Amino acid sequence: MTTQLKILIVAGARPNFMKVAPIIHEIRKRVENGHAGLEYRLVHTGQHYDQAMSDVFFDDLGIPAPGINLGVGSGSHAVQTANVMTSFEPVCEAERPSWVVVVGDINSTLACTLVCAKMGIKVAHVEAGLRSFDRGMPEEINRIVTDALADLLLTPSADGDVNLKREGIPESKIRLVGNVMIDALVANLAQARASELPHRLHVEPQGYVYVTLHRPSNVDDESSLRGIMRALDTLARRIPVVFPVHPRTRGMLERIGHESDGHSALRLIEPVGYHDSLWLTEHAKFILTDSGGIQEESTYLRTPCLTLRPNTERPVTIEVGTNRLTRLDRLASDVEDLMQDKPPRGRIPDYWDGRAAERIVDALLEHVGPSFH
Ligand code: UD1
Repeated sequence: MTTQLKILIVAGARPNFMKVAPIIHEIRKRVENGHAGLEYRLVHTGQHYDQAMSDVFFDDLGIPAPGINLGVGSGSHAVQTANVMTSFEPVCEAERPSWVVVVGDINSTLACTLVCAKMGIKVAHVEAGLRSFDRGMPEEINRIVTDALADLLLTPSADGDVNLKREGIPESKIRLVGNVMIDALVANLAQARASELPHRLHVEPQGYVYVTLHRPSNVDDESSLRGIMRALDTLARRIPVVFPVHPRTRGMLERIGHESDGHSALRLIEPVGYHDSLWLTEHAKFILTDSGGIQEESTYLRTPCLTLRPNTERPVTIEVGTNRLTRLDRLASDVEDLMQDKPPRGRIPDYWDGRAAERIVDALLEHVGPSFH
């Protein structure tokens, strides 16, 4: 096959890396199998830049170093979005790609989509159509605007298609490809199971709770974070709690001066890599999180998950999976249920089969013409 196709793939922050890895591996496989004219470049916007938030994922996932790093770093939403836009525009001018592939719902996703829409460059959005219906979340704004502007909307589950059609997006732009994050999980499970982390932490399968929290609504508010930490200290008197702390959360914990009371097994540790996080997800007694990705990974691995949020843009994880929403004022009783119960095992959603990247690359190859706008 000789279709000429140059694809720019954008990644910016931690949850993006496991979504771009399977797409890159699939493109490389097709090139090795003789697809001349197919090429890609990986653009890292630099929204996340710490070794523990970025580099470790490139190593774990076997992603080659990005061809282009915009190095935008942190800032307010406006500053970060604007910096990605001004640095990405000249890249698009120089590269003139056939497709720009953006993933997820972070500020970099929105910024690159806006640049392309104005330049007439086609954008494919991977993980399109997810909605929390909560515009108080920055990610929801990013999802709505990205999906309104993108040319190809690649959805992870059927609820995404329903949401997009309700917003008036033509069916011809929507393609249900499945969950690419599960491709990465499937490909990395054997390495995750060989993680050394449990030996370092002295934890056993089913013998700990895995906690990750970084949403502004949970951690930027002092009284909410204090309440969460009190609940975790109480829980950790009964069972070890492993809590790798995101930089946003660490900043706030330092501000409120949190210190463990010394009687609990609350392990506040540095952010962990991809394989270590998968190990913790697969073997936890249960999980407490506000991450989108961990709701999905725990569904696939059938680990009970409490999501500390009033809503989720991933309802399929509740409908068929092991996920439940919780609130601070109900956390103690929901935790108690999971400490006592034999929770339901759930089922894996349709198209979460490790082959989403194949379907994504097929869709890109089918749509090689000019923008649909
Ligand atoms: C971003 C995404 C969020 C995603 C999360 C995963 C947006 C709006 N939010 O949130 O959807 O779930 O990434 O982590 O795009 N920092 C570091 N080192 C880093 C990166 C950040 O220390 O490598 C610190 C900085 O102080 C920064 C803060 O963390 O101000 C927050 O980073 P930012 O990229 O603004 O948002 P996240 O909370 O990580």
